[in-house]
This record gives sequence, C-alpha cells and structure tokens, in this order.
Amino acid sequence: MEYKIAVISGDGIGPEIIEEAKKVLLKVGSKFGHSFVFNHVLAGGCAIDATGECLPEKTLSICCDCDSVLLGAVGGPKWDDLPGDKRPEKALLGLRQELGLYANLRPALLFPELSDACPLKPELVEGGVDLLVVRELTGGIYFGEKGQCETECGTGAYDVELYTEKEVERIARLAFNMAMKRNKKLTSVDKANVLESSRLWRRVVNRVSEDFPEVELSHMYVDNAAMQLVRDPKQFDVIVTSNMFGDILSDEAGMVVGSIGLLPSASMRGGSFGMYEPIHGSAPDLGGKDVANPIATILSAAMMLRYSFGLSEEADAVEGAVKEFLKAGYRTQDIMTEGMKLTGTREAGDRIADAI
Ligand code: IPM
Ligand code: MG
Repeated sequence: MEYKIAVISGDGIGPEIIEEAKKVLLKVGSKFGHSFVFNHVLAGGCAIDATGECLPEKTLSICCDCDSVLLGAVGGPKWDDLPGDKRPEKALLGLRQELGLYANLRPALLFPELSDACPLKPELVEGGVDLLVVRELTGGIYFGEKGQCETECGTGAYDVELYTEKEVERIARLAFNMAMKRNKKLTSVDKANVLESSRLWRRVVNRVSEDFPEVELSHMYVDNAAMQLVRDPKQFDVIVTSNMFGDILSDEAGMVVGSIGLLPSASMRGGSFGMYEPIHGSAPDLGGKDVANPIATILSAAMMLRYSFGLSEEADAVEGAVKEFLKAGYRTQDIMTEGMKLTGTREAGDRIADAI
C-alpha cells in the first residue's frame, strides 16, 4: 500500500530530526512492504525566507492532498522580531486551524531504561509513568480575539479565552474514548474556580461523561494539576484540557519522563488524517550540530503509523526499536548519564532503523 506524507522539516533542528524519522519509515516500508511517498513542503521561518509567507497556500493544499503530515519544528531568533501574525509559529497555528486538527494527543511514557534521566525521586515513578495529555488545539485563548488598546495606564493588550459547547464536547468525547482504550481514568483540568470558560468546560465534560459510565472522571484545577504531576505522576491516566493549559502541562509531563526530546504528538480531527510532530521546539542553538535527539520525531512517525494508517504492528516495531536502542545504552546528549554511550542525531536514527 502507498501512503502519501507531507513533510514539513521547518527550522533549527527540524530538518535533522525529520531525516531520521524518514529513515525509520523507509525501513518500516521495506520490512513490511509499504511505500511511503514524502512530499516536502515549506512552513515556518524557512518559508518566510523563501516565499515571504510562513504558511504558503501551496503548503496547505499539498497537506490536504496527503494522507498525513510529518512536521519537525518551526521558529528561531532570526524571525523573533516579526509581528505576531507573521512569525514562524503562526504557521503551526494556521496548519492546526486550516486542517481542523482540534485534538492534540501527547503521550508521556517513562522508559524504565531512562529512569536515571527522570528528575523525580525514584519512588515517585517506580513501576513507570504512562499518561496521555489530550489538549484542545483549535480553540481557546490561542484563537480568541486579540488586540491592543489604549488605557489610562498606557497601552493594554488582550487575548480572549472563549470555548463553545461544541468545541468542549468533541474534545471531551475523544478523551473519554481514549480513556476507554486505556485505564478508564480521565482527569479534566480547568480553572473553574475563577474562569467562566472553565465552568462551561466542566459542565460539558460532566454531560459527556453520562455516555461513558465506565470511565472514572475527576476534575482538577490547573494549578493543582501542575503540582500533582510532579508530586505523584502515576495517579494520571488521561488528562483532557484546554489549548493553553495543555501546552504548559505537556511540557511539564515531558520533563517528568526525562526529556522533552522524547515526547511525540498527534494532532487529529476525528478520522484518520493527522499531523505528527515532536512536542519540543526548533532548538536553534542545537541546529546543524548533529546533537539533537530524534526520538520524539521517530515516535511521532510511529503514532502516524498507528493512528493514520492503522499499522499497529509496524508502530509497535518502531517503539520496540527505540526501547532496544535505549536498552543497549545509547543516549543523545539531552539524556546522557554516566556509563552510557553518547550518540549523535544521525547515529541514533541509524541504530533505531537497524533495530526494526
Ligand atoms: C507546542 C508549541 C506551540 C504551541 C508553539 C510553538 C506555537 O509550544 O506545540 O506545544 O504553543 O502550541
Ligand atoms: Mg508547547
């Protein structure tokens, strides 16, 4: 079977980590008899340099014509002074919005081989951490009205957090369905003691929960959730939350499991189409040095195999190869500990592809 993948390498370490994920997909293709066709398109800072726009129309239309999108990372200091709607990050938001990718799945799994890289006390993570953050991705404060205004105290600026019942309902439903496939525990994170939008969020989540009597639902304020993630991360199975809270909590979850360089993500809209990217950024200072950790991007490709193409055996093979690589003692610099073998980006990709 042939699968068409739009590939957005992006900026900083993006092109390097994407190359390794492609290497791994090609190995999966030859081993399992699939053909992956990569269509490279521009978005982010490199697109600004080449076309003047962070998200050219052509990029969007090619993404729409493909079965899925694989994305590295966008942004860098070179474009930091551009106004908000011209910045490379705007490409990411545009892709999410234009492709309707309202659900962002961010699994955080602590590999036993990496328990040394976890900054928490061993007893807090004993037996492993395995949680899934389901982040709403096309609503809330990221996409609400924003602007500047003149006030008596000088210039003011605002960003509006607005959620509709429909938006909350569809992300809640997806999160409940995910919980049904896992340990049937769902924590909805909000700030309902202060925010009206959170009170709506909570009402709708409670309503949806009536359709999922087997799932144990709890609600948690975001400040408490931030604390609980480092106090007792094992209490979580699936977390569902808004766009901004999910952005923050998923970085924290990344650190809990050792390094943000390990965390993949899938952005979905219901159905098989999805966009897959590491949750980390473009790390411009590491770009071009062959030191970046490609694991988050490789695991994102595994999520693509599983969620977009329904190839779970192949996805298992990729995840297994990553585990084998770590078990054999290989580490990129972000997760390097004493006695381990330091590898660069390319060597890591080669070894993981070889292990498939
Ligand atoms: C993420 C990133 C993005 C976000 C930025 C780069 C716009 O932090 O995917 O988590 O805030 O969504
Ligand atoms: Mg983020």
